[in-house]
Amino acid sequence: MSLYQTLNEKTSALHDTIETVPVLTELSKGTICLEQYKQLTSLFYGFWQPAERMLKSIDLSIPWVSRAHHLHHDLIKLGYSEDDICGISQCMLLPDITTAAQGVGMLYVYQGSQMGGALINKALSNANVIPEECRTFYIPHTSNLAQYWNEFTHALNLASFSETEITQAVSSARETFLTLTCWLMLPTN
Ligand code: HEM
Repeated sequence: MSLYQTLNEKTSALHDTIETVPVLTELSKGTICLEQYKQLTSLFYGFWQPAERMLKSIDLSIPWVSRAHHLHHDLIKLGYSEDDICGISQCMLLPDITTAAQGVGMLYVYQGSQMGGALINKALSNANVIPEECRTFYIPHTSNLAQYWNEFTHALNLASFSETEITQAVSSARETFLTLTCWLMLPTN
């Protein structure tokens, strides 16, 4: 089985689970209110900003799209100041990313989440509750997301990982899903 197929298979139940997190259900139905949306954007920023920093610190040998700056942009448009953004709590539970295999596992989850983002963008646009300038995180970076995903997954499969490294990549992808699910559900956030 290819690395991509393995990642897909071993995380699909976790994807199904994260989709049931109440705020994400509201988001994908377009029924989220502005206050909830602000809270969610700040939670995503507290997760993906430090995650991206870790991903950028290692050589993954796979081209990928950085997206945390869109969350920063959306927060500003939602009325946050730079100081407010600096004060957003960062997720302390992020998986440890010290090897390329771990990075690739997390990257699969991060880049793949753009696929749902396109659907979410459509739902939010139809619902007309969140202004377009506040939801750039969900707007696909390319007019052909399917092609981007094809190229990305092809690049994943070119990585010549050992069995141990594949196991590491899968653990990291699973931990990324699990950590984000907990992060979005923690009552203290
Ligand atoms: C309610 C929110 C979400 C919806 C409605 C949703 C929906 C989708 C859809 C429609 C796809 C494309 C499936 C396909 O074409 O085969 C997809 C793929 C994916 N999503 Fe989500 N998603 C959501 C949240 C998330 C989140 C929060 C993450 C992770 C941070 C995520 C990670 C992924 C990944 C990794 C893929 C690629 C699966 C693969 O092809 O291997 N999704 N999602």
